[in-house]
Amino acid sequence: MYQAVRGTKDIYGSQAELFRFIRNTCFAVVEKYGFSEVMTPIFEFVEVFQGLGQGSDIVNKEMYGLKDRNGEHLVLRPEGTAPIVRMLISHKMLHELPKKFSYFGPMFRYERPQKGRQRQFHQFGVEHFMATTPASDVLILNMAAQILTALGIDDFTLELNSLGTVEEQANYASMLCTYLNHHKDKLSADSLRRLSTNPLRILDSKEECDKELLRSAPHIVDNLGAQSKNYFNQILKHLQALDLPYKLNPRMVRGLDYYTGLVFEFTSNHVGSQNTLLAGGRYNNLVANMGGTSVEAIGFAAGIERLALVLEERIALRGLKKVAIISLLPETEPTCLSLMHKLTQASEGFELHYIEEGNNLSKKLKRANKILADFALILGPEEHRKQTIMVKNLTTGHQAEFPQADIKNIMAFWAQSQGE
Ligand code: HAM
Repeated sequence: MYQAVRGTKDIYGSQAELFRFIRNTCFAVVEKYGFSEVMTPIFEFVEVFQGLGQGSDIVNKEMYGLKDRNGEHLVLRPEGTAPIVRMLISHKMLHELPKKFSYFGPMFRYERPQKGRQRQFHQFGVEHFMATTPASDVLILNMAAQILTALGIDDFTLELNSLGTVEEQANYASMLCTYLNHHKDKLSADSLRRLSTNPLRILDSKEECDKELLRSAPHIVDNLGAQSKNYFNQILKHLQALDLPYKLNPRMVRGLDYYTGLVFEFTSNHVGSQNTLLAGGRYNNLVANMGGTSVEAIGFAAGIERLALVLEERIALRGLKKVAIISLLPETEPTCLSLMHKLTQASEGFELHYIEEGNNLSKKLKRANKILADFALILGPEEHRKQTIMVKNLTTGHQAEFPQADIKNIMAFWAQSQGE
């Protein structure tokens, strides 16, 4: 028997409904902030992702590479930011800034699968190009918080840090290296390796020995220049004014190397170790590094699977009410089909099922019960003669007859019976 590839999932039934709810809610919130949807291909030339960082795990270990028949070296996108920057440059949109984009789609990373971590997963994200003042950082954070609240998640924690400019990061990295070099013997093997490749990533280590050592390490926010410090303080001030609670996390560095300035994560206590629901930050150099001009930008992405993990325990999605359409004679079929057509156009909150199986009322009703229909519309010889239709509430047994054209009252009967 064929199996889905490790780290991938088929999404169907209530999961698919939940995904749709999450997707629609995300887009509805960011639309109000002027973000419009874009769709980029799921594979790109490998070079597109070089800006993610030569020292990052995503580039070094996690990309799904493929060679096409033409010998082109392509990769399945591990994230959405670099492809959107590529799009911005290749479509000459740099002349039309500011731009605000939103996106939804699958991403691919060769990671060790666990709860909340897959090899194919989905992200909803936004990118704001030419975001130049602390107000844009705060609007992005507020919008992210609003998405979570709109989904029904209000027990999240917003963690913040500022990484400063590339120069400030380099200065801090050498300061950190000096400190850690004095304690090399206490570092984990992974961190020891990172000391020469990407020392900032050591801050993110989950190893107890590293964590212990980092408790007395210098903090990046304490070593920013005046301008970066001032900018970060402005963000914090605005957040306080907006009443959006946050926690400073001086050890947050994120897994991608393109960040400068603000970085942030919205975490939940409910999804195990992979608890970052939504994360992002500012990336003021990426557009220039990928061949564009210098454009200040900020964005985030939310992990849909992780949001779904939190939400599946909490919300019973309001399933659509099911209506079974039952025609009992060959002559009544055209009327039933036409009724179904009109009802699909007129009704909301219902799904209509044309019952094909069974050749008498009791067999058709059995079928309707099997699909858990809430209502049946029945057209038999008697109704055919009178040009009516019988509407039956299958839960209560309550029924009423309506003229066939009386769509309005048929729907009123469904709506009314819902409250019974
Ligand atoms: P990221 O932190 O790598 O950032 O991913 C964002 C979110 O995607 C994570 O917080 C998590 O919820 C979800 N995610 C990441 N990897 C997996 C996985 N293997 N399985 C399930 N969910 C996962 C980015 O991707 C940046 N592009 C975000 C950004 C946009 N920064 C600026 N603009």
